[in-house]
Amino acid sequence: MTDISTHILDQRMRSPVYNASGVMCRETTELEAVRHSDAGALVSKSCTLEARDGNPEPRYAATPFGSINSMGLPNHGYRYYLDYAAHYDYTDKPLFISISGLSLADNLHMLDAFQRLKRPLLPEVNLSCPNVPGKPQLGYSFDDMATALTAIHAAMDIPFGVKLPPYFDISHFEMAAEIFNRFERLKFLTCINSIGNGLVVDTDSETVLIKPKNGLGGIGGDYVLPTALANVNTFYRLCPDKQIIGCGGIGAGEQVFQHILCGASAVQVGTRLWEEGAGLFTRLNQELVAIMQRKGYQCLADFRGKLCTL
Ligand code: FUM
Repeated sequence: MTDISTHILDQRMRSPVYNASGVMCRETTELEAVRHSDAGALVSKSCTLEARDGNPEPRYAATPFGSINSMGLPNHGYRYYLDYAAHYDYTDKPLFISISGLSLADNLHMLDAFQRLKRPLLPEVNLSCPNVPGKPQLGYSFDDMATALTAIHAAMDIPFGVKLPPYFDISHFEMAAEIFNRFERLKFLTCINSIGNGLVVDTDSETVLIKPKNGLGGIGGDYVLPTALANVNTFYRLCPDKQIIGCGGIGAGEQVFQHILCGASAVQVGTRLWEEGAGLFTRLNQELVAIMQRKGYQCLADFRGKLCTL
């Protein structure tokens, strides 16, 4: 038997694969579709204090190698997801709740409300949304990120995680890791959000593909796989007490395998889930099992983090 189960903290996932926040998670019907699929967990849409319509459309476009989006955090406001979390059956599969307040005070308010539910939900604080005009990605401002995490850590009785932007420079990996390692209850790092503020151009029409921000948007899909793997593997090495959740560039079981080989304990899928729907999880699980059987691996621990260097 090939076992693809994994754990985030003490919570078991039957599969390491689930949705990335932003895809199939704004409506409760979508969350329920992920819950009833072969995904190992589910995460809700990054929520804000109040409901948001998000940026003007078109704000997502598929491209030959992935996607570009500038959604602008469309969500129903945290109370909607709080209600879902209050009634969720936690014996089924883990529930991650993504929080993306527009200020530290908003984040603290929402985290307090979710924490007070006293349910085994897993908060993922989004430090990396690139799509809200006037709101820089906190993960790129080390002093502000340290200040925010200090306040969040002090306020949290329960473990939590953060969703990170991609880093590209070794010194930035080291500075970010030093900050994360200060916080004991910060238990997981989700690497990576989209590569922010890319531009995709249509040659025929000589236009951008999406309306917000003159066409700039977060890039996902095949383009981002090497950057995602670099972030997963580097934080896996620099933050040995944290679990890493990989995200970026997953379209087949092979990329799930690569993320885990680089150190991921679980993986999220965004672009390909948007294109393919929840049947994707069944396919990815089957393809991962096939790779493991070909290599003689019986469980994820047989190869997790065992990437070889030359
Ligand atoms: O624009 C959005 O709603 C995306 C959020 C994110 O990438 O974190």
